[in-house]
Amino acid sequence: MKRHSRALTQVPSGMPAGSPHTEAITQTMAHHTTNNIDLQPLWQQLEINGCTIANRVAVSAIATGHDPQQYAAYLGARARGGAGLIVTGAQSVHPSGDIGWFRAWEPDSEETYRLLAAAVHQHDGKLFGQLHHCGAQQTGSVKLDTAGALIAASALASPVFTTAPTEATVQEIGEMVEAFADAAARMRRGGLDGVEVHAAHGYLLHSFLSPMANRRNDEYGGDPLRRARIVVEVGRAVRARCGDHYPIGVKLSFDEFVGDQGITVPVATETLEILHAEGIFDYVSVSGTSYHSLHEWITSMESGRSGHLAVHSAAAKRVVGDLPVMVTGAVHSVAEAARIVAASEADVVGMVRAQLADPDLVRKARSGQQATIRPCVGANQGCWRRYFRGGQVSCTVNPEVGREKMWGDDYFAPTSNPMRVLVIGGGPAGLKAAESSARRGHDVLVLELHDQLGGQLHFAGRLPGRERWQRLIDHLYGEVTRLGVEVRLGTRATEELVEQIDPDLTVVATGASWDTDGSSAMLGRLDGITGLNYANVLTPIEAIANPDACGTKVMLVDEHGTHAALGLAQLLTRHGCSVTFVTAQHHPGSQTLGVSTLNHPWVYPELVKAGVEFISESVIDRVMPGSVVVGSLYDARSREVEDVDSIVLCMGRTSNADLYRALRQRGRAVECIGDALAPREVDEAILEGAQSARSLRAEDLSRGRRAVR
Ligand SMILES: Cc1cc2nc3c(=O)[nH]c(=O)nc-3n(C[C@H](O)[C@H](O)[C@H](O)COP(=O)(O)O)c2cc1C
Ligand code: SF4
Repeated sequence: MKRHSRALTQVPSGMPAGSPHTEAITQTMAHHTTNNIDLQPLWQQLEINGCTIANRVAVSAIATGHDPQQYAAYLGARARGGAGLIVTGAQSVHPSGDIGWFRAWEPDSEETYRLLAAAVHQHDGKLFGQLHHCGAQQTGSVKLDTAGALIAASALASPVFTTAPTEATVQEIGEMVEAFADAAARMRRGGLDGVEVHAAHGYLLHSFLSPMANRRNDEYGGDPLRRARIVVEVGRAVRARCGDHYPIGVKLSFDEFVGDQGITVPVATETLEILHAEGIFDYVSVSGTSYHSLHEWITSMESGRSGHLAVHSAAAKRVVGDLPVMVTGAVHSVAEAARIVAASEADVVGMVRAQLADPDLVRKARSGQQATIRPCVGANQGCWRRYFRGGQVSCTVNPEVGREKMWGDDYFAPTSNPMRVLVIGGGPAGLKAAESSARRGHDVLVLELHDQLGGQLHFAGRLPGRERWQRLIDHLYGEVTRLGVEVRLGTRATEELVEQIDPDLTVVATGASWDTDGSSAMLGRLDGITGLNYANVLTPIEAIANPDACGTKVMLVDEHGTHAALGLAQLLTRHGCSVTFVTAQHHPGSQTLGVSTLNHPWVYPELVKAGVEFISESVIDRVMPGSVVVGSLYDARSREVEDVDSIVLCMGRTSNADLYRALRQRGRAVECIGDALAPREVDEAILEGAQSARSLRAEDLSRGRRAVR
């Protein structure tokens, strides 16, 4: 087979040694390798009431929405990757607390737990089941088979779901206590290694513990002792049903992040003292927040949070002494986890999203391959947002999540028919396609037009607080380099060049370009904005690359309500610009609000303080010499904004698919992925990059079916 000529060196040919990209990579690698934190504290075993946990890295609870078979495959992948302990996602113990996923109250759930336990045990991992009742954190009446109102400590609606619950009666409390115990007994019979009573995050038990959520005056409300009573009763009942020699933990929010009215560290400390004095629980899992403060729980990348709850687990440790304490929240690296354990701030560290992004995190860290760990970027798109949109959890950077069963172990298995693959475009889709093809043993060459890799992600990574996108590009580049892929920067791919290279398959990942005429299919304005030629119009990419080109008074036009426009406003105001933010949405950044990507609270307040003028549900009607007319979408109101130096159009994008179409016409084997196929998000780009390895079907090519897609 004719192979691509290449130098299998650290710096691929076509990439000058001192280029910005290679420098960034060198720095990232240096960060990993000079990071001399001793990881040994993580590799110690830990006993929790007779259950031996192999190491100190856990996958804490995460509800995924997967069906049992897929969920077992997902758990198995994390156990195989080396996590010492895995806690299942929330398992509803009673129909009134149903989150529409696993139903631990159903007798046949025992069988399901057997399946889940087997998936973890085959890799010598340990699996605890999380006992959960959602309380007020659910939309009432959406489930056809769940009648009646939601129940909580008091009749206070969730800030997210807004459905009013009813105050649980003492009889209902007794019923819930029994339900927790029944579910725990089922988990034990199903072979789970322990259980965790979920009393955090604003759910039913948390609503009793929180002074803000519990307004009762009976034996379950008032002082800390009475507020903790239901958790004590649940603990006792679970212990009675599971016996003395079975690990039982409790999960607590140590700070509700709502000030003195809610759970604060002193309040949580007092609660823990009460629980600890009972001697029921074998470990404490420390988390934080309720649904009033979700952004401090599932932190987004611009939060800058890193292991911020370890100070709380340290407080818990001071209460419980030798009893194991687990902490979870924004621990992004094994080095940080090791520091927490070494400092005795916790005994076990939960790394949830980090192990969605890379299930082999522990195995890689243990074998000295820390630098190859795929980083979680913290954009919350593939995990949290997908879940809350009613989908199943996946991961932006790791599309294998949720597809473990479907793809199976041989998805990236070496091919018996290595081929020459040309990837055009070094953005996330192209780099992922190169990585997956090379992993399967194909001979891969990447051509990138620009002098840096990453495509639009490179610019997204330059928005304030969004630097972790660059870490993803660095990771993908590191992987393709390791796999011997040749990357040529500054190279325009043409039909002639492709003919000359003559690959077996060409993968076109040439991305999309921002529209500059103001047309909008979404708004039904296909003719664009009248008079735009009077204005200095920039695309978001141009504005990010050179904010000076925007002048001082900028009008930012947002169509979709994504983070892109918000982040751009942040960049420009920090640069000293005054920004008028015109959005067609009902609220700026509408896609980042609520239970979506959870970054809105980290960005929007800064823009308000910076004096950004927001004009919602509006569009530019026309541009005139010296002024811009902004009109309401819904009535005839309009206003004229004068002296605008530039207009940045954060609107639609159009696929760069000309080369794909031309190659297809020539009858070449070609496939089109990512934004070049249709402008979407990085999630789709990476997924299609991963999938493209599968479409290299030798039979298709040999049968002369030249266009693969
Ligand atoms: C999609 C999703 C579902 C989650 N489900 C649960 C759950 O069922 N129970 C729970 O205690 N925490 C749940 N969590 C919270 C995680 O356990 C963890 O606290 C959070 O992701 C922050 O930790 P990390 O930064 O290590 O990801 C969930 C998180 C995500 C992203
Ligand atoms: S989807 Fe994003 S935030 Fe969630 S685990 Fe994956 S990389 Fe991290």
